[in-house]
Amino acid sequence: MAIKIAPSILSADFARLGEEVRSIDAAGADYIHVDVMDGHFVPNLTIGPLVVKALRPHSKKVFDVHLMISEPEKYIGEFAAAGADIITVHAEVEADLQGLVAQIKAAGKKVGVSIKPKTSAHALKDVIKDLDLVLVMTVEPGFGGQSFMHDQISKIAEVRAMIKKAGREIDLEVDGGISAETAKLVTNAGANVLVAGSAVFKTADYAKNILALRK
Ligand code: DX5
Ligand code: ZN
Repeated sequence: MAIKIAPSILSADFARLGEEVRSIDAAGADYIHVDVMDGHFVPNLTIGPLVVKALRPHSKKVFDVHLMISEPEKYIGEFAAAGADIITVHAEVEADLQGLVAQIKAAGKKVGVSIKPKTSAHALKDVIKDLDLVLVMTVEPGFGGQSFMHDQISKIAEVRAMIKKAGREIDLEVDGGISAETAKLVTNAGANVLVAGSAVFKTADYAKNILALRK
C-alpha cells in the first residue's frame, strides 16, 4: 500500500502560511493537513474557513481539513466553499454522526471521521461504509508536538480490519506524534496516511523530512 504524507500546517510559520504550503507541496506532501480548533471541543484556537480560502490558490494538493470543533454542522458549508477536499469530523461531537457524514457528502466533499484516543473503534461501525477516511488520533487532540500514544496501535489494526470488511477503499490516517520511528509502527498496523507536524517542520529541509517518514 502506498503511504501518503499529510504535513500539518499547525507546525508551520503562521506569518508565512502561503509560502509554507507551497514549500510542503514542492517537498512531496500528498495532502495538506489543516487543523481547525475552536477553543471548545479542544483547548486551543487555530484556523477558520477564511484562512483555508486564502491558502487554496497556493497548492493543488488535497486539502485535508480536520475539524476539532463542536457543532461542526454549522461550519461544514463554509469549509466546503473555502476549498476543502476532505472534511473530517469527530465521532465524539454531540451530533448525529450519520447526518454529518451525509452533510459533507451533499457538499460534494470526501468525508472522514476521527476518533480520540479514549474512543473505541466501535464508534465508527454505523458510518464506516460511507466514509472516505478514518482518522485515528495518536495523541489527545489540541496541540502539536506531543508524544505518540503506543496504546493506540491495536486500534489502528482493528480499524484496518473494519475497512477490509467494509470492502471499500478508505484511507486510514493517523495523527499525533508521528516520526520516522513511529511511522513504521503505524504503517505495520495498517495506516496509510501519516499526518506529521513537528516531524516535517522541525528543520528547513522539508523534502528530507517527508522522505524520512515515507521510508
Ligand atoms: C493535534 C493535531 C495534529 C498535530 C500533529 O490535535 O490534530 O495534526 O498538528 O502534530 P505533531 O505531528 O507535532 O504531533
Ligand atoms: Zn490533525
